[in-house]
Amino acid sequence: MQDLLADETKGKPCGVAPLPPTRTEITRRQRMLRALQCSPVDRPPVWLMRQAGRCLQEYRALREKYSFRQLIQIPELAAEVTLQPVRRFHFDAAILFSDILVVPEALGQGFSFRDEGGVEMDYILRDRNDVRRLNTRAVTDRLQYVAGAIRCVKPELGPGTALLGFAGSPWTLANFMLEGGSARAQTRALQLFRRDRALFDSLSQELTLAVIEFLQMQITAGVDAIQIFDSLGGLLPAEDFEEASGQWMRTIVSALNGQVPVIVYSKGARGWKSLIQTGAQAIGIDHETDLAEAKEQLPARVAIQGNLLPDLLARAEPRLVAAQTRRLLELMRGRDGYIFNLGHGVPPDAKMENLEALVSTVQNFA
Ligand code: CP3
Repeated sequence: MQDLLADETKGKPCGVAPLPPTRTEITRRQRMLRALQCSPVDRPPVWLMRQAGRCLQEYRALREKYSFRQLIQIPELAAEVTLQPVRRFHFDAAILFSDILVVPEALGQGFSFRDEGGVEMDYILRDRNDVRRLNTRAVTDRLQYVAGAIRCVKPELGPGTALLGFAGSPWTLANFMLEGGSARAQTRALQLFRRDRALFDSLSQELTLAVIEFLQMQITAGVDAIQIFDSLGGLLPAEDFEEASGQWMRTIVSALNGQVPVIVYSKGARGWKSLIQTGAQAIGIDHETDLAEAKEQLPARVAIQGNLLPDLLARAEPRLVAAQTRRLLELMRGRDGYIFNLGHGVPPDAKMENLEALVSTVQNFA
């Protein structure tokens, strides 16, 4: 704001009272919501995928006392972890601390962490009987703790910062469920899609309904916007994207009926048409996609989010992080509807001085 005022008083003769400011200060929440609507803002809003978590020493300290499950299931703790990165960096949006795998867990397929990293589902989803056994009626009941976390964080966050809710896309969830966790090569979901379309569709259908209920619950509890993580979208050949992932996300976006803006983040997906057809207000762009191409391909009514290389935060020096951040800001200058973010999540070994360089570059961009 100081910068804006400076602009407005620049060049005025001495002794003449400056004109009243024509632009009044907006909150970070308004900045985020306006950018999502592709309305003009003073500078792009910024938040980062996985901004809460292992990169923060205050998170690691809490993790010594509590399990990941306690952190996401006890509303006061989930709220605290959600707030940690906002306190430090004054992001325009907070993302609720949780995980995409809470939905399979609520359906009856729990998860845990492997010592060597990655997640493990309690069993592998294999056949029609396993799909039939998924308990889709219990989803909202079992995920009440997420609504509790939202209600707990809202007053602490205050009206000045946007709160994002999220869910995994049906395609991404199906991959974890069919592989039985993180896997080196995820092949089973695509195999099912090719070999037994009816079963693939009924699994996707169940997941779609569960995700709709889950997101509706988050909206009712008070989130300002939603992000759908289609993190494994890039496993799909372009010609299969629409049927295997895009159409289910479109069903979700349309069921939510514009109550809040939706961001679709599809890592590695190249099917612009299918992504646009989801009806999402914003598309998240990963770091392997050229942001200039996204700018060219996406209609002006669709906001764009992304796409700094996450690895820079762990490996580069602050000066390079600032320069690369500025490069993206310049590229998107004048394009209403741009939200600064990484191309994927903050790496656990990100350096704090790099996060600071990124955030202050965006916050001081004029
Ligand atoms: O800050 C935020 O972005 C909010 C919290 C958040 C987490 N996971 C916390 C978390 C969000 C939005 C997610 C989404 C998520 N979870 C995705 C989609 C985004 C992506 O990264 O592509 C996926 C695929 C998952 C599934 C998942 N959860 C994996 C593969 C892992 C990693 C296991 C490992 O050891 O690396 C998790 C665990 C997880 N989710 C952690 C956090 C902070 C680490 C937990 C810990 O050990 O403390």
